[in-house]
Amino acid sequence: MTKDKIEKLISQLTLQEKIGMIHGDGFFTTKGVERLGIPPFKTSDGPRGVRKDFENDAWKDIGLSYDYASYLPCNSALAATWNRAIAHETGKVLGREARGRGKDMILAPGINIMRTPLCGRSFEYMGEDPYLVSEMVVPLVQGIEENDVSACVKHFAVNNQETRRLDVDVEVSERALREIYLPGFEAAVRRGKAKGIMGAYNKLRGTHCCHHDYLLNEILRKEWGFEGITVSDWGGVHDTKEALMNGLDMEMSVTSDFDAYYMAEPLVKMIENGEVDNKTALAKIDEKVRHILNVMNELHMLDGERSAGSYNDYNDKAALRQAARESIVLLKNDANILPLDRKRIKKLLVVGENANRQHAPGGGSAEIKALYEITPLLGIQMLLGGNTEVVYKPGYYNEDIGNIWANTGDSENGQADSLNQDSKEAQESQKTAQEKKRQRQKEMNEKYLQEALEAAKDADAVIFVGGLTHDYDTEGQDRADMRLPYDQDRLILELLRVRPDTIVTLVAGSPVDMSMWLDEVKSLVFGWYAGMEGGIALAEVLFGDFNPSGRLPETFPVNSKDCPAVVLGEFPGGDKVSYGEDIFVGYRYYDTYDAATAFPFGYGLSYTDFVMTGIRAEVIEDTEESKSVKVSFDISNIGNRGGATVAQIYVADKRPRVKKAAKELKAFEKIYLEAGETREVTLMLEREAFTYYDETAHCFRVDAGSYMLLLAKNAEEIVDVTEIEFAV
Ligand code: BGC
Repeated sequence: MTKDKIEKLISQLTLQEKIGMIHGDGFFTTKGVERLGIPPFKTSDGPRGVRKDFENDAWKDIGLSYDYASYLPCNSALAATWNRAIAHETGKVLGREARGRGKDMILAPGINIMRTPLCGRSFEYMGEDPYLVSEMVVPLVQGIEENDVSACVKHFAVNNQETRRLDVDVEVSERALREIYLPGFEAAVRRGKAKGIMGAYNKLRGTHCCHHDYLLNEILRKEWGFEGITVSDWGGVHDTKEALMNGLDMEMSVTSDFDAYYMAEPLVKMIENGEVDNKTALAKIDEKVRHILNVMNELHMLDGERSAGSYNDYNDKAALRQAARESIVLLKNDANILPLDRKRIKKLLVVGENANRQHAPGGGSAEIKALYEITPLLGIQMLLGGNTEVVYKPGYYNEDIGNIWANTGDSENGQADSLNQDSKEAQESQKTAQEKKRQRQKEMNEKYLQEALEAAKDADAVIFVGGLTHDYDTEGQDRADMRLPYDQDRLILELLRVRPDTIVTLVAGSPVDMSMWLDEVKSLVFGWYAGMEGGIALAEVLFGDFNPSGRLPETFPVNSKDCPAVVLGEFPGGDKVSYGEDIFVGYRYYDTYDAATAFPFGYGLSYTDFVMTGIRAEVIEDTEESKSVKVSFDISNIGNRGGATVAQIYVADKRPRVKKAAKELKAFEKIYLEAGETREVTLMLEREAFTYYDETAHCFRVDAGSYMLLLAKNAEEIVDVTEIEFAV
């Protein structure tokens, strides 16, 4: 449909019809205009797959079987693959399934920066580095949108904590905003061509992000040229006039009084009462409708042939298994206990409740009604077959009642209740539930611990699978600290005492404190919530069918107290949170201020060894507007099995004119090499690799001078260095 035809459509719509299109008329849909062939706009969560369906006006599962769907690796897992092609393939699965389920917009991906490891939704996001996030989100969004479905990149912006998420007011310097918190969104919009973006619940500098003139009108529309739909987070609108004027296109919420939404009847009344200039208001409404119709048009919702999508397609499972495999991070393998030799293991003990737990149904709006989920225990059994006796002991006790989504209110679903997280009743009921839980936990833990230790004695190998659950990695609530719950530290220590070769495997969506046993453990694997194929992927890594190649997308601090935001007392902070650490988020802080970490950003091992040397660089272009640098190096696999590694290039300004991080990631490539293979790799660095945000001139700039290019295995392991010089 041409732009003219869209304008004609707009001219034929009544005010009421337009209003119907710009606010929810169901929890996940707007109203269509049948007489003009405009369908309702249907959205669905979310980042880990297409969420189950709810009744239109009640938080009640539809309760049928047709909404089982693929369960994708969570975004922190996806980011840990450091593989753009994997992000693209995973995006394709998500988009195809969203379309296959009849949706127009999938409320994904989530890309807020991991400012601290404690944010409850870290698992939905892609780590701490704006460059890594940008590189991964672009192919992900493109993959989604190849299927006539809109992505909805969320949550715009600075939604970095769940505590007081609806009202917390973020103060952040313009430089940190531009350098750390916005680049992922900008990449998704400019390069990924995302058709949808979701406003965040929180405030930025005093105004709620869902109707924030600076974020939505100035930056998103004017600077980045966004032409898609801005959607509020569910219940994120607080003011009719601001919503009208400040760039919000579609208001969604969690209550069923749809006509009472700010951009429904209250907006009509505001116009009728002359509280806003009539002409301006109508033009603004037309603009919103125009954005919606433009996207509908691009998705072939108005005419043309639209992709039908597909879901639960068995061919997609291979892509999801590969994503899961590549996300798994080998953190330690001191005595080369891994990979395990299945022929030598007649009796295998698997300890830990996470070995047997399905994670898909948890986490908040990222929950998935999974077609299936292969647990680590099932994956191990599938891989080993009948010649090995697999003994399972839970080792610790986990009663599933810890989080706000399970404990507040009477409604069928925590979604609406989650907006009441700060109410006294909610906090009280949570406290009581947690107290009960603690008591029972203590009794059961002792029993389970003894059973596990006993079983460990005569097993040929012991694999512990613990970590977190969505009681901890969850929407609506942050973690209080990074400690492993359910007394797992004690269990791990005791297991290591009985069996020093115990392999520790953690399944979680964000970093945990390992300090109590990290020195003792010889083999350590971090497995994430890796989707429906996650358990088999993990088994393949443990038994060497797949050579691990995941790299951490975020620093694993020793302790959450080391995290700069926590050090400053600005997490979770008060009603106002001041991002005093500024640009020093994640490795930018640990690196620049020499703070110890448990595992650095970009870290991960392999069952083979790689050597990277000979970094050389050539300045191809050096003007004020444009820079281009060609970087090459050689990489060899010197071990005896094929595998992939991630070559990382960091840039360090030798004589910075403003305070800068010691170094910043500006290029990376995941490279697969056969045993003994050597290759020359060439990467290009463009202007963005050398810029910083100049708050006085209000733009990104590059200073003339020398820059070091560091070839690295991770943020703390530089293997080679070269230097370049810009004249201007
Ligand atoms: C979450 C969003 C989600 C929306 C719809 C909100 O609670 O913050 O990420 O897409 O609900 O379920």
